[in-house]
Amino acid sequence: MEKDIQETLSAFKPENFVFVISQVNHKPSGMVAAWHTRCSMNPPLYLVSLSKEKNTHKIIQASKEFVLAVPNNELEKEVLYFGSESGKDKDKFQDTGLETTPATIVKVPLIKKATFNFECKLIHEIDAGDHIIFIGEVVAAHHQEDKGILLNYGKKDGKRYFKEFPITINQTDKIN
Ligand SMILES: Cc1cc2nc3c(=O)[nH]c(=O)nc-3n(C[C@H](O)[C@H](O)[C@H](O)COP(=O)(O)O)c2cc1C
Repeated sequence: MEKDIQETLSAFKPENFVFVISQVNHKPSGMVAAWHTRCSMNPPLYLVSLSKEKNTHKIIQASKEFVLAVPNNELEKEVLYFGSESGKDKDKFQDTGLETTPATIVKVPLIKKATFNFECKLIHEIDAGDHIIFIGEVVAAHHQEDKGILLNYGKKDGKRYFKEFPITINQTDKIN
């Protein structure tokens, strides 16, 4: 049955998402993005699509580096803040107390409690309607194997719903 395009695209859930962190003048900021994917194996490239209206794309354009950090249920409160407030007039790290740890290669910090952290160097920008696609080369990767990943189930009655998904495989998950 044919439906409204925007509503139907938004209904395609659950979706995983990442913190996109960058920094200028030693001051990190960032946002949350669900529009992201790997796009080359060799070299290892990753893309993320960020709104031109928001603040984070400007920081990435200035620093040419960013970190993608995958949240779990310990970070739900910070996800909501980073995914709704603007870094233009707020220090999201200070406001939430989101803990960081130094990266190996880039200057942008990692998110300490994240399940995965990927250090990226910007290699390409593509204009995509009201968004900009940033393609980064993943230059270092970090994984805390005991943690799951948070999925976004969307909004209902003004409230956003998340659920953590385990990333370990159980024998019962096997299909064949
Ligand atoms: C689960 C979730 C997924 C999101 N995905 C995206 C996305 O892929 N691209 C985007 O531009 N904004 C996305 N947003 C919205 C931004 O995170 C939000 O507008 C943020 O406040 C922008 O911050 P900034 O102005 O400091 O960059 C998402 C928000 C949430 C909660």
